[in-house]
Amino acid sequence: GPNGKYTVTLIPGDGIGPEISQSVKDIYSAANVPIQWEEVSVTPILKGGKTVIPDAAIQSVKKNTVALKGKSPHLFSAVSNRLTSSIRIRPARNTNVVGKGHVSLNLTLRRTFNLFANVRPCASIKGFKTAYDDVNTVLIRENTEGEYSGIEHEVVDGVVQSIKLITWDASERVARYAFHYAQASGRKRVTAVHKANIMKMSDGMFLSACREVSKEFPDVVYDEDLLDRVCLKVVTNPQPYSDRVMVMPNLYGDILSDMCAGLIGGLGLTPSGNIGRDASIFEAVHGSAPDIAGKGLANPTALLLSSLMMLRHMNLNEYADKIEKAALTTIAEGKSITGDLGGKASTREYTDAIIQKLL
Ligand code: NAI
Ligand code: MG
Repeated sequence: GPNGKYTVTLIPGDGIGPEISQSVKDIYSAANVPIQWEEVSVTPILKGGKTVIPDAAIQSVKKNTVALKGKSPHLFSAVSNRLTSSIRIRPARNTNVVGKGHVSLNLTLRRTFNLFANVRPCASIKGFKTAYDDVNTVLIRENTEGEYSGIEHEVVDGVVQSIKLITWDASERVARYAFHYAQASGRKRVTAVHKANIMKMSDGMFLSACREVSKEFPDVVYDEDLLDRVCLKVVTNPQPYSDRVMVMPNLYGDILSDMCAGLIGGLGLTPSGNIGRDASIFEAVHGSAPDIAGKGLANPTALLLSSLMMLRHMNLNEYADKIEKAALTTIAEGKSITGDLGGKASTREYTDAIIQKLL
């Protein structure tokens, strides 16, 4: 790009999105990260009777292929006509499949750019005291289907059906990504998390795909465990999970990642990356936190760490390492941390404390 800088799409979004995005921008300026932000809005607009994401946002992500997302308005009331899922579903005429209720904007972005894997690392911050100090796991969540396919309808009055969709292709794709990730990050084990004891066909097929893919990776140990058992085991002793990657269908990953966040200090600390075929979008695990929006209370760490995943994805590791050290040291020192971590600092004060360490 211009001046040898990379252009990255920035979607500040709403709720605490703009505040935490500002922190990241300020920290990046201080660290001289060679990135130029292209800021776009994803506030839905009406177009030809449909509610869609502004085309400029889609085009920006398409062009730059890398985006950082604050927090989006979560829901809007029609499927984008740009929805080009790998799974094509033609809604039946007489049912209200997808059309009537609200459809997630996130879901639309995930499908538009084939963001098939959601990577959610969860690691204790050294020196910051929580129930455990040795959490270091990585969750990989299938990101395009499962319970979040958005296919729901009322069968008859008082009976609603919500379809959990599992395809071999999406299962195989996310499994292969999980094994590659394990290999690249030196993790020895991939655990597929499931409920195939109950959902014999859907989770059963997810497991079959994982087993098939595991044969391509003889150096990585493969095993399987039930979601509920994993929950119990992780909160009882997270240590055995620190050498592995867990891969799972969509809904399980959503829930398990919030649970793991609780082990290391909460949602203010957990990053994620939506890795796709056509683009990758990095964002915090948490939502728009409307209860604290605009008050200067938000913890920007989760978005900052997401942005560092983005830098590493772009091979800008040097900058990522430097910023990470400054942020984690600030948290460990505990003098300028936000309320969610037990401190008294505002978003601004915490951000400034990090910047001080970078100058
Ligand atoms: P949330 O994650 O926004 O907030 C849960 C709790 O954690 C709140 O008390 C909030 O104040 C706190 N919290 C979250 N992030 C924080 C941060 N960075 N610093 C300090 N405290 C933080 O979940 P909630 O309230 O269930 O959802 C709010 C909205 O966000 C909803 O519209 C939801 O649908 C949406 N959402 C969007 C997501 C996304 O964009 N990927 C993910 C999860 C929720
Ligand atoms: Mg969630």
